[in-house]
Amino acid sequence: MNTNSRFAEATLEIMEAVLEVENIDDALAGGLEVASRLLQAEAGAIWFLNNKTNRLCPVYNIGEVDVSTITIENGVGIEGKVTQSGKTIALEDASSDQRYGGSVFDEVGLSTAAIVCVPLDNMEKIVGCIELINKKDGTAFTKDEIKLLERMASLVAMTMQEKGFDIEEEEHREVLASLVDITKEFQSGDEIVQVLRGINLDIYKNEFLVVLGESGCGKTTLMNIIGGMDSLSSGTLMVDGRDFSKPSDSELTMYRRNFIGYIFQSYNLMPNLTALENVQFIAELVDKPMDSEEAIDKVKLSDRAQNFPSQMSGGQQQRVSIARAIVKNPRLILADEPTAALDYTTSIEVLEVIEDIVKNQGTTVMMVTHNPEIARMADRVIKLRSGKVSSIKRNLNPLAARELVW
Ligand SMILES: Nc1ncnc2c1ncn2[C@@H]1O[C@H](COP(=O)(O)OP(=O)(O)O)[C@@H](O)[C@H]1O
Ligand SMILES: [Mg+2]
Repeated sequence: MNTNSRFAEATLEIMEAVLEVENIDDALAGGLEVASRLLQAEAGAIWFLNNKTNRLCPVYNIGEVDVSTITIENGVGIEGKVTQSGKTIALEDASSDQRYGGSVFDEVGLSTAAIVCVPLDNMEKIVGCIELINKKDGTAFTKDEIKLLERMASLVAMTMQEKGFDIEEEEHREVLASLVDITKEFQSGDEIVQVLRGINLDIYKNEFLVVLGESGCGKTTLMNIIGGMDSLSSGTLMVDGRDFSKPSDSELTMYRRNFIGYIFQSYNLMPNLTALENVQFIAELVDKPMDSEEAIDKVKLSDRAQNFPSQMSGGQQQRVSIARAIVKNPRLILADEPTAALDYTTSIEVLEVIEDIVKNQGTTVMMVTHNPEIARMADRVIKLRSGKVSSIKRNLNPLAARELVW
């Protein structure tokens, strides 16, 4: 295929990704995904200029590194320079270019060689930029590729204007847990299986984080490591300012009891205890429990408090298991496919309870699901692929549980 028709097709694919979606978040994410695939980029991000703070913040990024904590002053770094000047910058060798001046991507562990960064210009003003970093084959971005990205950027900017995209004032986000280069390998017979291959991720206080990824990509392993149910092979896990990478037995017990609340696909309730007793039983083990009846009330099961698990539906049993997690007053709730065994209606009931915990309890929730529709509730969506973070997306307008349809 000649270059022209290849680029015509690529443009069409980008147009479909950007224009044929209802919501702007999906347009941004889809556009960047297509562009990074077509240009074979190692990483990339869409940065949006917040006019109130005059800083750029990433709304979507692709690649192994989490840049969502980072903001850049307009005019500083290559992203800022592009946004200020409205002109594309392409670097073949970032390390020797003055304009680059060390980048956020290097700070988070990606060594930057080639960059192309183009402005998002919606005719009225520059609203941000799109950046791709490093070609997978190590070569520089070509003129045609840069032109393609510029075309995409103008489509994105136009879509943003049409659909009324505006970013809210960035709140100061405090980090609750921090994962640095976490790996996990299992011995399987004579072989060593590398399941997590360097996870870097910050989890913020009071955020609702959803983890997506195909079966077997390492989601449960990651949750187990964060939850202290499995040990990591290398890397660092910090939670609430404390290092839990290599905890002693007593630290581990304390951590699992008081820091973390767990919700699994299976409810794991004691069959011979009532709903309330299942919750009380946990409350007695922890340092600062919530009142058990209050926990039952929060999951809207007060009228079922005296029922045994066998007298309740799957959705109700899952809500008991949520009450059991929140009664601990944990810093972080880990939920691994909590609705996988439930039908649509009961799933929504369970998700409404989880939503309420994040909004009204101030608890941080990290939830694994394989249902992309559920991810639309999240503040941020992390995608895992083969044991690495492949993208992080900030939802600009998270949906309420009851708005989800599948
Ligand atoms: N204890 C273990 N020993 C060996 N391999 C394991 C072990 N636990 C998980 N794995 C492997 O790690 C990979 C990721 O598993 P998992 O984290 O459960 O994936 P997911 O939750 O994304 O479906 C799978 O290939 C699985 O077979
Ligand atoms: Mg799993």
